[in-house]
Amino acid sequence: MNQNNRDSFSGKLGVFMALVGSAVGLGNIWRFPYLAGENGGGAFLIVYFIFVLIIGIPAMLSEFVIGRRGQSNSFGSFKRLAPKTRWYFVGLMGIFAAIVVFAFYSTIAGWAFEYVVISAKNIFVPPGDVDHAQLFEDFHTKALMPLVWMAVFMLITAFVVLSGVQKGIEKTSTILMPLLFMFLIIFAVKAISLPGSAEGLKFLFYPDFSKINADVLLNALGQAAFSLSVGLGALITYGSYVQKDNNLLKTAFSVSVTNMFVAILAGMAIFPAVFAFGMAPEQGPGLVYVVLPAIFEQMAGGAYYAFGFFIVLIFAALTSAVSLLEVVAAYFKDEFRMKRSTATFAATGISAILAIFTTLSFGPLKNVNLFDHNLFDCSDFLASNILLPLGAFFIVIFLGWFYDTKQTKDELTNQGTIAFKLFPVFLFIIRFVAPLAILAIFLKEIRII
Ligand code: TRP
Repeated sequence: MNQNNRDSFSGKLGVFMALVGSAVGLGNIWRFPYLAGENGGGAFLIVYFIFVLIIGIPAMLSEFVIGRRGQSNSFGSFKRLAPKTRWYFVGLMGIFAAIVVFAFYSTIAGWAFEYVVISAKNIFVPPGDVDHAQLFEDFHTKALMPLVWMAVFMLITAFVVLSGVQKGIEKTSTILMPLLFMFLIIFAVKAISLPGSAEGLKFLFYPDFSKINADVLLNALGQAAFSLSVGLGALITYGSYVQKDNNLLKTAFSVSVTNMFVAILAGMAIFPAVFAFGMAPEQGPGLVYVVLPAIFEQMAGGAYYAFGFFIVLIFAALTSAVSLLEVVAAYFKDEFRMKRSTATFAATGISAILAIFTTLSFGPLKNVNLFDHNLFDCSDFLASNILLPLGAFFIVIFLGWFYDTKQTKDELTNQGTIAFKLFPVFLFIIRFVAPLAILAIFLKEIRII
């Protein structure tokens, strides 16, 4: 706890680990590869990278400033920084988005449990000929087990959040993130050494700019926000736990670089294998669950690797889900004076209701469609491609145009004790570049420009 009795991270390393824990997750290992697969590979990678630079990182810094100044959850921080205004709506929209993302996130993370079980069985009884696409299809369209695993994942997440900022959130990330890097590096090396893997690397890195259209731009924007955990106040909430002497610029930069690195590593583990096995890169959300098991099968000791991988995937998802649940729990705790435990369970319960629908949308509720997409796709699209960019838009506008520039500079330079030569550039980006880019992508998507 710090002076004003708010929870805090333990120090520089703890902050870094918790933030990397939040950023690195299914977004890197599951979402990035399948989106790159559907949106043209290398061209998508470059657009995504540009959006991380001109929107993601500036928005991340903006959230840090709001959170560390506001010393409260995302709603409360806006209330403190802009009293008697309606800016707190941005906080509320973020809390709503966090509930939605936590729900569909738990659906996907839940699947990994089933694969842990399958891999464990394979260690003891080697399977015969398996059709991995069929296996995945059979499992994820059922009702019972996907629901059970989704609930298990939510409960573990709740347990970490319940354990508090340092003992739960920070500690979990500090242990699990290094493990994740190790595993991903092993997988990438394995995948690249497969015969025929070069095609995959070419797909991931060679940009074919003719593939870029309005949808690709919107997807890349959504992915940049999603992947950096920007746009719904998770970083406002975490920002409020960061010590006053932490160098926010360094933190934002190192977290973003690490996050990008992990996405590329995941891409290098997956695409070479996809091409080596003659599969199609555009398979959508099932990509990781169909392709990786096929690779593991070809490897000596593959069942052990598979077992390890899916556990690590759960860990990666867990440290991210924690940051989503914390947004909602911190709001309940601060604003309704609930105990951490009550707040955590209330938040989990609300998300769980929605998660029932996103989970069943692959099976029993498959035919419940909105705009031709199932409920899962709709929740992902609404949250990632609309609410997050919109959240980021308002967050940078707030800091760029409404909040006192001197205070922003003070917060980013720790009251002038560290240099930030590029501050004018930062200001220009959050005032013009980032908001206009987001606006242009939205308008292009709805065919106004
Ligand atoms: N960044 C995480 C991932 O890539 C997901 C996530 C966690 C997130 N917290 C968030 C996304 C807050 C948006 C906002 O898997």
